[in-house]
Amino acid sequence: MKSLLKFITCGSVDDGKSTLIGHMLYDAKMLFADQEKSLELDSKVGSRGGEIDYSLLLDGLMAEREQGVTIDVAYRYFTTDHRSFIVADTPGHEEYTRNMAVGAASADLAVILVDASKGVITQTKRHARICSLMGIKHLVLAVNKMDLIAYDKDQFEKIKKDFEQLTYQFHVDSVQVIPVSATEGDNITEISDHTHWYDGVPLLPYLEQVDARKETDQDDFVLPVQRVSRPNHHFRGFQGQVEAGSVSVGEEVIVLPSREKAEVESILVTDRETETAASGQPVTVQLDREVDVSRGNVLTTAPELNVTDMFTATILWMDDTELVPGRNYFVKIGTNMKPGTVMNIKHKIDINTGEEVNPGRIFKNELVVCDISLSDHMVFDTFEHNEALGGFILIDRVTNMTSASGVIEHPLRRSENVVWEETDITRDFRARQKGQQPLTLWFTGLSGSGKSTLANEVEKKLVARGHHTMLLDGDNVRHGLNKDLSFKESDRVENIRRISEVAGLMNEAGLIALTSFISPYARDRSSAKEIIGDAFVEIHVSTPLEECERRDVKGLYAKARAGEIPNFTGISSPYEAPEDPDIEIDTSRYSLEEATDYVMEQIVGFLDKNDE
Ligand code: ADX
Repeated sequence: MKSLLKFITCGSVDDGKSTLIGHMLYDAKMLFADQEKSLELDSKVGSRGGEIDYSLLLDGLMAEREQGVTIDVAYRYFTTDHRSFIVADTPGHEEYTRNMAVGAASADLAVILVDASKGVITQTKRHARICSLMGIKHLVLAVNKMDLIAYDKDQFEKIKKDFEQLTYQFHVDSVQVIPVSATEGDNITEISDHTHWYDGVPLLPYLEQVDARKETDQDDFVLPVQRVSRPNHHFRGFQGQVEAGSVSVGEEVIVLPSREKAEVESILVTDRETETAASGQPVTVQLDREVDVSRGNVLTTAPELNVTDMFTATILWMDDTELVPGRNYFVKIGTNMKPGTVMNIKHKIDINTGEEVNPGRIFKNELVVCDISLSDHMVFDTFEHNEALGGFILIDRVTNMTSASGVIEHPLRRSENVVWEETDITRDFRARQKGQQPLTLWFTGLSGSGKSTLANEVEKKLVARGHHTMLLDGDNVRHGLNKDLSFKESDRVENIRRISEVAGLMNEAGLIALTSFISPYARDRSSAKEIIGDAFVEIHVSTPLEECERRDVKGLYAKARAGEIPNFTGISSPYEAPEDPDIEIDTSRYSLEEATDYVMEQIVGFLDKNDE
């Protein structure tokens, strides 16, 4: 079977990237006769005055032709007599850094293009840096448009030296610099007469022969479990792709995080039984005894793999909204996913120069080094040691979009010495003693919407019914526990996190907690729900802004309109209304008594449900 090379091309339209790929496909005889014909016809109206315009071949990207820029990651498959290729073509502009990272994540090699008349520029440095960050170990620099500099050897040598100096700082295994002209076809498939001083091979033959396997010092077997297969009572197999090392029947493996041990009883690769399976193969492994294994667990022979809840990472921020420290995301490592928080942003890395800079605010396409704190222990490795268990993505809890892609630098052993103490008096016991199931009634809404007034009335009714309660109010908590926090976004995130933890503790104590905080961000309310669990009841006090502003009980809206209060919710800071709250009440449409009765009626359902 022919081997497969997955590579990415980096460069911009002006560097001749599309023409280069088009030329390779053309010379690799990938064209059918009529396609060739239509290419010639197209070129009559194309940009090369009757010559074949190879960039027109890439019709996967029609929009590129129409707009003159490449807009997304396009994967193309082609094959020659010696090898098969998948090429990820990505746009080169800085605002498309995320697309490049996505393409680079699955590539073994990168072909970076420069314009010979311009040499190594800032963009080239960014391209090389992103490729290296995403784990690419083999780089090819295609010095294009050699025809424009009359195939000048000295100029080529200078570019080569610049590039080698640049890549010296990255941990790459091979660097090849090739002088080419994509339009003229120099050194694309055949050695050019114009560059007799070049003693290397042309681009396509180089790609056909290069050994781009990752050199790894990892012999230990690693299998992140993707699925537990149980077709009948007799068979229980653990499925996934072997990410490192190999395994044989009879060998002892450890299940992480439980650290239980078992021997491999059988191995299936697709539906065939085999004695051993190696890195890259999709397998089903059966063990010789009952051990508890679920998706996200790792079968391994490496007992030293990290099982902890914090690490330092370099992340590429990809979200349209800015990165706010303290916010919670889903962290996906291998086949496992757990909530986690971005903390301690240490510094930003200038994506073009590689310099460490003061973090300040962080926007899309920026690189930062930070700590990630997980809600629970996860199995991981450093990216350098194992890409499958060392790379991760952050997923937005509300939109489910990928907010960042990251690589783990090293584990942090924060909490190894802090273990959870089980107490003899339990949450259930405390609740039973009070004759109730704990709840957190989470009131959210604009300032002046009536949250606190309503929460106060509801608490009175609950107490009258014999319940044990505690009310946490925004203004009050900000005088004590949270007096160090302001109203900027990251402080609001922390405000809500602390309140959620406190409300959770109140529930542990068996109490019904009522919280009255604007809590303007949907993501943070979702984190609150995560911390508090099933006891969480979201009550949206949906009084419209105009009414809140008309009431202006504390005179704050007037001040905010006058520009005296920065980041005022509803005026100069957003309020993200809940999409599907458990209870919704607009206090402008009812008397306080009616509103209270309505909320009580709704809550009864939750109290009763929990009383069962
Ligand atoms: S939250 O956004 O972090 O949930 P919280 O409920 O604790 O806010 O505090 C809101 C109260 O602080 C408001 O009712 C108002 O009295 C006061 N406040 C002072 N400055 C602001 C501001 N910039 N934005 C919103 N509320 C403010």
